Amino acid sequence: MATINDNYLKLKAGYLFPEIARRVNAFAEANPQAEIIKLGIGDVTEPLPEACCQAMIKAVEEMSDRSTFKGYGPEQGYAWLREKIAASDFQGRGCEIDGSEIFVSDGAKCDTGNILDIFGKNNTIAVTDPVYPVYVDTNVMAGHTGEVNNGGEYEGLVYIPITEENNFTAEIPSKKVDLIYLCFPNNPTGAVASKEYLKAWVDYAKANDSIIFFDAAYEAYIRDPELPHSIYEIEGAKDCAIEFRSFSKNAGFTGTRCAYTVVPKTLKATASDGTEVELHKLWNRRQSTKFNGVSYIVQRGAEAVYSEAGQAQVKKLIDFYLENAKIIREKLTAAGLSVYGGVHSPYIWLKTPQGLSSWDFFDKLLQTVNVVGTPGSGFGAAGEGYFRISAFNSRENVEEATKRITEKFKV
Ligand code: MLT
Repeated sequence: MATINDNYLKLKAGYLFPEIARRVNAFAEANPQAEIIKLGIGDVTEPLPEACCQAMIKAVEEMSDRSTFKGYGPEQGYAWLREKIAASDFQGRGCEIDGSEIFVSDGAKCDTGNILDIFGKNNTIAVTDPVYPVYVDTNVMAGHTGEVNNGGEYEGLVYIPITEENNFTAEIPSKKVDLIYLCFPNNPTGAVASKEYLKAWVDYAKANDSIIFFDAAYEAYIRDPELPHSIYEIEGAKDCAIEFRSFSKNAGFTGTRCAYTVVPKTLKATASDGTEVELHKLWNRRQSTKFNGVSYIVQRGAEAVYSEAGQAQVKKLIDFYLENAKIIREKLTAAGLSVYGGVHSPYIWLKTPQGLSSWDFFDKLLQTVNVVGTPGSGFGAAGEGYFRISAFNSRENVEEATKRITEKFKV
């Protein structure tokens, strides 16, 4: 009989969001009259920007005509999109990132997992706690960890707690780690990073020959001009960081699928014989072997994000979700709950009321007021006693959910 990758057996029962969906579906089936409002998974609800739709309609028309039809595209993404990304998201902010250092893909989630393909098995890997669970689970799948303990921590990973005490920003490790995952604005806590803070990480990474995996999927929610959107705004980051970006949370592409990863050509890691190898070459090799690129139609849609109309429409979309976040944050705070995040982020992180565990609060919220959120403990042991509420929903639903929560859990 064929054998399996035993590492999968080490994984905790189910991925967080399917487990939430399972509980919600069971409740909905038993209570068909309940008007459930979902503020759990960070999935957008508002339609795509008009500029993106128009660009994709035009691209479909091109595909229907033999003279403009496109077959396979470049695995790395079309140059016209990569160059726009480089100019607008990086060079415009003073970062020396070139279009050839950008790899267009179908998702930041896939890329943060797939990137492990090009790294060795013996790296010391650090994650924050709480953390976006994909970083941990993909390391488990790749055999980079031992077993999970009762607290939900995998043997072999270095967990850096992010708590109220450190303002939800991980302290720089006192010992050397090889790979570090950072996410700002943070999922799940909504915390943001200053330039000084990111500089401390870049200095650490350079001093220790470490590589930072910087997940900036929520950068478009930053409104303070002093806050960095990219780690490459920090000098030296091109030598120690890979950045992941997405069109999901800015242009609403969660169902359309387009993202990109930046692997600078200056970034190197060591082979087992001690030679230094360019990671850009390895990622290019990996992508051109295992990936056939994002569809032409979707890349045209993503390109439209950078048009004048696209930029204005994306801003309006994000303003809308940020206003939702503000409503949730302010109303829950006024009700006496301890609330964090939700300023430059679509996520509100709150302390569970009445000392409830994260999952107990999840169940109580679902059963008593029919609102769905995400239990903090699903993001790691240090998330126990916390709860994430997402601002992705209609205004009406956000106002109704906030009203229900505050009426029931007013302190
Ligand atoms: C979340 O809710 O944390 C996000 O939807 C995760 C993701 O974007 O994959």
